Amino acid sequence: MCGIVGYIGPKQAQPILINGLKRLEYRGYDSSGIAMLAENGLMVAKSAGKINRLEETLGNAIYDCNQGIAHTRWATHGEPTQLNAHPHTDAEGKIALVHNGIIENYRTLKEFLIRNNFDIKTDTDTEILVHLIRYHCKGNLTEAVRAALNQVEGTYGIAVISVNHPGEIVAARMGSPLVIGNGEHENLVASDVAAMLEHTNKVVYLDDGEVATITAENFDITTIQNIKITPKIQEVSWTLDEIEKGGYDHFMLKEIHEQPTTLRNGIRGRLNWEEGIPILGGLNLQYDELRDIKRIIVTACGTSWHAALISKYFIEELARVPVVVEYASEFRYHAPIFDKNNILLVISQSGETADTLAAMQETKKHGVTVLGLVNVVGSTIARETDGGVYLHAGPEIGVASTKAFTSQVMVTSLFGTLLARMRNLSVLQGQEIIDNMIKIPSQVEQILKGSDQIREIATEYYKANNFLYLGRGINFPVALEGALKLKEISYIHAEGYPAAEMKHGPIALIDENMPVVVIALKDAVYDKVMSNIAEVRARKGRVIAIATEGDTEIAGRVNHVIYVPKTYRLLTPLLSVIPLQLLAYHIAVMRGCSVDQPRNLAKSVTVE
Ligand code: G6P
Repeated sequence: MCGIVGYIGPKQAQPILINGLKRLEYRGYDSSGIAMLAENGLMVAKSAGKINRLEETLGNAIYDCNQGIAHTRWATHGEPTQLNAHPHTDAEGKIALVHNGIIENYRTLKEFLIRNNFDIKTDTDTEILVHLIRYHCKGNLTEAVRAALNQVEGTYGIAVISVNHPGEIVAARMGSPLVIGNGEHENLVASDVAAMLEHTNKVVYLDDGEVATITAENFDITTIQNIKITPKIQEVSWTLDEIEKGGYDHFMLKEIHEQPTTLRNGIRGRLNWEEGIPILGGLNLQYDELRDIKRIIVTACGTSWHAALISKYFIEELARVPVVVEYASEFRYHAPIFDKNNILLVISQSGETADTLAAMQETKKHGVTVLGLVNVVGSTIARETDGGVYLHAGPEIGVASTKAFTSQVMVTSLFGTLLARMRNLSVLQGQEIIDNMIKIPSQVEQILKGSDQIREIATEYYKANNFLYLGRGINFPVALEGALKLKEISYIHAEGYPAAEMKHGPIALIDENMPVVVIALKDAVYDKVMSNIAEVRARKGRVIAIATEGDTEIAGRVNHVIYVPKTYRLLTPLLSVIPLQLLAYHIAVMRGCSVDQPRNLAKSVTVE
């Protein structure tokens, strides 16, 4: 979604801002813009489309400016045109503002401004805010921003500069992340640390309701009510290498190949083999509190929701604790029932997804303990939960989530095993799971070596218009995830279904043009899945099977087999999903799609 970057210091601002915007491209956007403070006033350039269009607009010139703000916009109010792109300026062109989020009462504010003779030029809610700041500006920019924000309802992360206030950037946050990067004689502000890692790893996360006045040497943080805040400087552990492609054609491919490492990082230091028990200190729960949990509600969006579904199978079977899985966007608006000893588990890669955050905040009001499984350290969800476990997957740049998904599945499995050990699972059973978990990273490595075979299969199917993905039990959510990956990045219509449900509808679609991907592992439902495969084949459907190594029988019954190694049954999603990620990737490349930044999608969905 929208991205913000701002710079103030001794260097030329333009290249820093443009590079910062490029680091934010992965979030998804449709236009971009920049405003810098030059000697003779504001220099503003905006452009619809990708950042290279903005660079073309700027020409070869590097403007002599040491301070500026820039933005990538993901349209909400108004089309993605040059006019609607940020920064927006006041009528005199003296104040410039970039904004992430939505001003919900912008219509009322617009009427207020029109009554006060302001001329509104764009369709955006953001333009209203810059005029409102101008309206309140009597001398002090921070005070004007504060006064304007006191009139605003909605969400925002903003950065503002003004010709009359050289040497400062004012930033504020309410529901849309902003972080200050503290460098040597320079400071940055951005919606995402990726935009500033080249310059500093010392950061201060703004909290909701905070306003920062940032100069090259300093930054002051106050609340909107003008109460002073003491900033807490933290160090980000992510490195620049982690946010670069490192020789891969796409971030997605790099991230798929990082999974052996990220999975190792997810379990490192978290396994007590002697006791057959995972150690998850960050949960901030004692063993008897874990034992007392009567019901778990898991909420998430997108791929994280699929990880949530997998956790239900794992936890219910092993720990015998009821698990309810809810889409965060639905959960926040129905009237959920909470009983004593219920907990909410929130799963999120970014830790910023608006619906997930809101579902969590609603639940907290009921006094329910909220645990977070989050990847981005310091993100809002991570900070607002009562406890949790970091995924340690490193930065995920490709919009289609891959390594974060497997880390989520691994971490929920650790959590499930811990809960189970608090109940009926024996030390020996715990050790068996741990032994299998330890082997997973090298088994993923082995599957990745089969990428060429999967590319071969992709050549046969990349022109298909539809795909069906089938799986049963704990591999049903994997079918959903495989279908989601394909539709996200290749724009092929794909559906995931529980294999046996196929005969209640999707079977009507099956003919020779319908590739069907079936997860057919050697487990208790293997024979049933084989019957489902026969039903597809009888209707000329072409079957790509994900099968267990050593299952030679299946080869004669399907068109293609991709083998995955054997593991503990409830850990199979960690392996079965890998070929599906690769299949989606190769198909998208063959179709010439923008793999890392699929159309209309955003990496971090910070609006409802
Ligand atoms: C977006 C992303 C998905 C992601 C979902 C939830 O739709 O494109 O990849 O699964 O948001 O994001 P979260 O950061 O909360 O896991």
